[in-house]
Amino acid sequence: MKNLKLIAKKMVSEGKGILAADESTPTCTKRFESVKVESNASSRNRYRSTLLTTKNLEQYISGVILFDETFHQNIIGLTKTIPSYLKDKGVLTGIKVDTGAKPFAQHKNEKITEGLDDLRERLITYKNKGADFAKWRAVITIDKEIPSESCIYANAHALARYASLCQENNIVPIVEPEVLMEGEHGIEQCYKVTSQTLKIVFEQLKLLKIDLESMILKPNMILPGLHSTENPSDKVIAEMTFTCLKDNVPEEVPGIAFLSGGQSSDLAAQRLNTLNRLYFNKKPWQLTFSYGRALQQEALIKWANQSDEESQNELINRAKMNHLASIGKL
Ligand code: 13P
Repeated sequence: MKNLKLIAKKMVSEGKGILAADESTPTCTKRFESVKVESNASSRNRYRSTLLTTKNLEQYISGVILFDETFHQNIIGLTKTIPSYLKDKGVLTGIKVDTGAKPFAQHKNEKITEGLDDLRERLITYKNKGADFAKWRAVITIDKEIPSESCIYANAHALARYASLCQENNIVPIVEPEVLMEGEHGIEQCYKVTSQTLKIVFEQLKLLKIDLESMILKPNMILPGLHSTENPSDKVIAEMTFTCLKDNVPEEVPGIAFLSGGQSSDLAAQRLNTLNRLYFNKKPWQLTFSYGRALQQEALIKWANQSDEESQNELINRAKMNHLASIGKL
């Protein structure tokens, strides 16, 4: 476990965060459609190669989460696999190992994340080919009668079983229970559901004897729903997010790396900055980013419409902003 603790610490080392570039093929296709680019293995390879060869990315990014397809591809024009390219840059390789959120039987509008079948074998292969950490995303939806307690428990238990298999195979698990922003709910409701979810997740992690020092938590911030009429300040968001985490996340966890979840790139950076400005010296864990859209959105547009170079400039700019936000100096 000693090595795992070191990797977990490195993932959230001061001033650094994680780039989530692990969109599944359907999600990546949706993103490409929005910029009118055809999505196939070769275009996805070109896009990801552009992102990952950004000069000095390693100054702000400790690790990159990949999807299975990318994990096995080479950087365009090089004979190296992407994990070995990242390793040479001093960047850790992560792999998304869940197989997606599927309808939860007999629970209308709720999802359960799958992927436990064959997970041990897949983790062994990924480890042998250079994976340092993994990711599993559970989604919790807020609506009139949901989430149900059963949905939270089932997802939390799956997260714990995944984390246990990761640690057995020397891979640091990113545990991601995402309370979705979609909906009309207010910020109080997000607070309540996220609190309940985190409480149950840590209960299940402890039950399965997960080493909390060898994992990273990837939660949502506490926010009103996308279609809510509320408009809280960044300070209120930071206060509620910090209180929720302080009450539910054990101090042994080395780092909390937020997902962006549909916030704009600017807001995601600003809110992380406010959190660190207010709590940098009061928090037991590192508070950083593991953003997908909030790091890539502008870079994807430039890649599709302008040039690789412009795209890389956008990515490094966003990475730097979030580096500053992760130390409260944006
Ligand atoms: P977003 O930052 O776009 O929400 O993606 C993060 C992620 O990895 C979701 O699983």
